[in-house]
Amino acid sequence: MPLPLAPAEHERAQRVRALFGRITRRYDLMNRLMTAGRDQAWRRAAARALGLNGTARVLDLATGTGDLAFAVREVYPQAHVVAMDFSEVILREGVRKARARCEHHVAWAVGDALALPFPDGVFDGCTNAFLLRNVVNLELALREMRRVVKPGGRVVCMEITHPQTPIFRELFWVYFGRIVPLIGGAVAGDLQAYAYLPHSLSRFPAAEPLRRIMLAVGFREVHYRLLGLGAMAIHVGIA
Ligand SMILES: C[S@@+](CC[C@H](N)C(=O)[O-])C[C@H]1O[C@@H](n2cnc3c(N)ncnc32)[C@H](O)[C@@H]1O
Repeated sequence: MPLPLAPAEHERAQRVRALFGRITRRYDLMNRLMTAGRDQAWRRAAARALGLNGTARVLDLATGTGDLAFAVREVYPQAHVVAMDFSEVILREGVRKARARCEHHVAWAVGDALALPFPDGVFDGCTNAFLLRNVVNLELALREMRRVVKPGGRVVCMEITHPQTPIFRELFWVYFGRIVPLIGGAVAGDLQAYAYLPHSLSRFPAAEPLRRIMLAVGFREVHYRLLGLGAMAIHVGIA
């Protein structure tokens, strides 16, 4: 079904998809470098926030190279995960990693977070890391996640956020806005792609407004936790 997007939004989504395809090769390395190796621990914290018991079906949206899908499997060895992304190029790297680690309980699928190809209430939980800043319609993405999760199941969103401490905020913007694009240029050979990161954050809501947006689209008991000196937020809402 075609997405109800304006031409400018459609074009922006295409640009985002192409960008992640371009940086796939060095994507994991850049994550480790940018976060001083903390990103995998944050993903495990996001997985734990799902609060699942026993066998469960989980959707990891915008899975990229699959690290959050793998973290969910690590935390819940009985879970089955559908790992979905709209970039087939980056998804292929996830498939390669899954084969290398003999991971057979992750199913890989190409699909758009704004029009999920699933009926209502088929998952016990949904995770996503670094998706929300990239979507052209934040509310629609959140509504779709809520729709496909069973009532009472959790949706966990991990995303970079705006640090609140004034001094750290200044330092963060120097690092994120100036240094990260240079590292991206040197390591991934794509300064422009990593200049997009601070740009995407600059128009993204802070943690508390995001909590209110999640409530407004119908999630219950929305709360968040800040990590990484306040630069990373994990929001949890009940569908
Ligand atoms: C920064 S990467 C995050 C990858 C992974 N979740 C992680 O923890 O590293 C963002 C991913 O979101 C995907 N993405 C962006 N918009 C999307 C959409 N509308 N539907 C599905 N995937 C999307 C991109 O293709 C990219 O792989």
